[in-house]
Order: sequence, then structure tokens, then C-alpha cells
Amino acid sequence: MRTLISTEELRTGIAGLARRLEAHYQGQPLTIVALLNGSLLFLADLVRELRIPVEYDTLRVSAYRGEATTAGEVRVEVGQVPAVRGRHLLLLDDILDTGATLQAVGQLALGWGALSVRTAVLLWKPDRTRAGFRPDDYVRQIPDVFVVGYGLDYNLQYRQLPQIVELDLSAAEAGQGRSEEHTSELQSRVDI
Ligand code: XMP
Repeated sequence: MRTLISTEELRTGIAGLARRLEAHYQGQPLTIVALLNGSLLFLADLVRELRIPVEYDTLRVSAYRGEATTAGEVRVEVGQVPAVRGRHLLLLDDILDTGATLQAVGQLALGWGALSVRTAVLLWKPDRTRAGFRPDDYVRQIPDVFVVGYGLDYNLQYRQLPQIVELDLSAAEAGQGRSEEHTSELQSRVDI
């Protein structure tokens, strides 16, 4: 278990994304819609870094990778459709893995009346992403490892960590049942 992206690296990476978004959306009505729950901390830090007017909302998405569907196919159910008519929409997610979730939400969002629909993610695993799909912007590319922290969870744990940590899944599974203990142990072993 090791820190992959430090708190400081996250801060500078998100500031870089904010500068690019400012340049792209200058003078335009922008709404950021973040997918719950993983991208909440990312959203909070990004909007506080932005120096252009921005509205934001969140979206709870249920994605089903059912056995009956083609591998990687995702059926997305969106609760409340965000009010983005006549505004530019930026969909924000914590991590882009295969891209199935963001691609499906992006397709749905095309019907919401926004002036444009783009995507930005904190982390992108390009080695895992289906061919032909990529986010419009991202903070960091990472290799194909399981990561937690800064909103990302394993069994609802570790979201509170202020940095991105690579998690050894076999060790985490062995630690199940004492997950809170495991979180504080992890917190004391990474440099917060
Ligand atoms: P897709 O394949 O649709 O998946 O791009 C995106 C979702 O997969 C989860 N995911 C992870 N969650 N650590 C996590 O905590 C990871 O390394 C990881 N890789 C994928 C996550 O829910 C994301 O929204």
C-alpha cells in the first residue's frame, strides 16, 4: 500500500485542470455535474479553484453490468435530470476505467438540451479504456492498479484519505470485518 498521488500533486493537478477549463469556457454559461459519490471531493476542490462563474449539481447514477448484457455494457439510470438547458455541461467523474459509465451518461446527457457536453475525470486508466473512448480532460493518468482515497472507496472505506493510495486488494480482503481499524492503520502508514 503506497501513495500514488500526494495531496500536493492533486492540488496542482486540479489547479491545472481549472486553468484549462477557464480558457475553454470563458464567458460561457457552465454547469458542472459530478457523478456521486466518488467525485464529491474532486468537485469541491475544482469549483473553489475556478475563477469563472460556474453552477454545479450532482447526479446519482445506477449502472448495471448485468450478466444478460454484453460484457462491459452498462445500463444507466439517472434520478433527477440536471437543469442544463442552454448551458454548457461538463460531466465530472472520479475515475475512468473502461469508460462504460461515462460514455453511457454522456449519451443520455446529449438529450438534456445543453449547448455542449464534455467530460473530465480525476484519474484515467488508459490501458483499461475501451477503444475509441477518452475523456475530454483529466488530471492524471494511472496504470491498471486499484486505487482508493480522495473520494474513491473500497467497500465504502478510505474515501476520506486526502491522497490517492494504491490498494493491495488481497490484503484489503484479508482486512475485511475490521475495516475501520484498517482505515486508521492505512492513514497512519501514508504520509498525510
Ligand atoms: P468504468 O469502467 O465505467 O468504471 O469506467 C468507472 C467506475 O469504476 C470504479 N473503479 C474504481 N474504483 N478504485 C476505485 O475505488 C479503482 O481503482 C477503480 N477503478 C474503477 C469507480 O466506481 C468508477 O466510477
